[in-house]
Amino acid sequence: MDKEKLIHCLNEDLANEFSAIIQYTIYASRVTGPFRPELVKFFMAEVADEQRHAQYLADKIVSLGGVPNSVAADVPDASDAKTMLREVMNAESRAIEAYKERANQANELGYKALALELEDMVKDETNHKEEVEKILAGW
Ligand SMILES: [Fe+2]
Ligand SMILES: [Fe+2]
Repeated sequence: MDKEKLIHCLNEDLANEFSAIIQYTIYASRVTGPFRPELVKFFMAEVADEQRHAQYLADKIVSLGGVPNSVAADVPDASDAKTMLREVMNAESRAIEAYKERANQANELGYKALALELEDMVKDETNHKEEVEKILAGW
């Protein structure tokens, strides 16, 4: 792991954050069923967190001398509420694993502030995932 590799990985994380923003936005528009009002609020509340993550990653990539990627990773298609929640849970699980790994890599390279921020993002994504788990558990 060197700085260039870390910038590359942070750009992949950024593409996934852009994807999360789009995923929550589109799901909020498309979700149907008796729980639509709650789910729209829930999805839209997540957008703010993911947007903050994306902004942090883009700022950090520039600070490290890189150029932020401007393309989002693919958003999984989903037409019913339960599939949307499962897709969201998968995306949040992947984000948790990615940020754990990225925090270790940042630590290895001596970027302590970045590592701490990435660990904070592990916390945010874990909260997101646990909320979705609770919704699905009671379905
Ligand atoms: Fe995020
Ligand atoms: Fe999230």
